[in-house]
Amino acid sequence: RTVSIIGAPMTYGQPYVGTDTGPKMLREKGLRPKLTKLGWRVEDMPDLDFDPKTLLSSDGKGDTVVSSQRDPPNAKNCALVGRGSSLLADVVESKLRKGFFPLIVGGDHSIGLGSLTGILRVRPDTGIIWVDAHADLNTPHTSSSGNFHGMPLGLLMNHPDNGPAKNFDFSTLPGFEFLDQQGPRISPEQLVYVGLRDVDPAERIWIQRLGIKTFTMTDIDHLGIGRVMDEALAHLKGRPLHLSYDIDSVDPMLAPATGTTVRGGLTYREAHFVAEFVAQSGDLASAEIVEVNPSLSSDDGANETVELGLQLITSFMGKSII
Ligand code: ARG
Ligand code: MN
Ligand code: MN
Ligand code: MN
Repeated sequence: RTVSIIGAPMTYGQPYVGTDTGPKMLREKGLRPKLTKLGWRVEDMPDLDFDPKTLLSSDGKGDTVVSSQRDPPNAKNCALVGRGSSLLADVVESKLRKGFFPLIVGGDHSIGLGSLTGILRVRPDTGIIWVDAHADLNTPHTSSSGNFHGMPLGLLMNHPDNGPAKNFDFSTLPGFEFLDQQGPRISPEQLVYVGLRDVDPAERIWIQRLGIKTFTMTDIDHLGIGRVMDEALAHLKGRPLHLSYDIDSVDPMLAPATGTTVRGGLTYREAHFVAEFVAQSGDLASAEIVEVNPSLSSDDGANETVELGLQLITSFMGKSII
């Protein structure tokens, strides 16, 4: 099998620079040889070009620079996030069509918009395992931060058409033209959350109304990570799987270099168990790791966080203890 490493150095979904260096740091620490050692053929391309000049040019190649439009309310860096997501969606789609395993390296979690769109175009029934302290289920209507890294699932969610809520109308967001009303959407039953502990009020309401399968940190304390992952994968049985791993799911003592730390996260072993268990299912078809930001802590903290990210990748890409 061939894994295609897709560097998505996105920063526009949240307020800090630094998430763009994630792919570079992981490569420097030996991402490629580690994957080769696990038996993968590796295709490593240059990072996607998320330079604003390129993203905002009308042809996407940097020729004609359009004046950047004003952001709609609660949609910071709207056009940049939208255009970047569109670019990523096309790359992920084409890699999957070639039979490759896309390994998307962020970047902030707004890249989920692009990776999920690309994946769902090819396999609309994909099961999504969202490992995160946060639900990322906001839209510009509910977000209090306006940061797109808190919105990928909210924007793509398919809302039951009999209820008062309708699917998000992307015509209000410049740059999101590729996600018109025909674009792929996520059904609530194809998503499972693991590790939640900081959920906004509107997100809580949607999780309940939509009936999304959710394993909070409380559930992990109560049931243990083994039973949680058993139930998570049972819920997604028969689907190809996409693992979206936000490094802030891990406890900030172990992963301090990220933008939105929340205490009380996954332990070292819990974090690895999630990755190992998903790998052992044999159904993992794509994965991403996001929100590693080496500039947001001491050098030691940054090193530890990048190192942990790399170890988690090797775990979900198939490293087993025996
Ligand atoms: N819920 C908060 C928001 O909407 C935080 C989201 C954090 N997301 C993340 N991918 N780290 O802004
Ligand atoms: Mn996230
Ligand atoms: Mn998060
Ligand atoms: Mn909040």
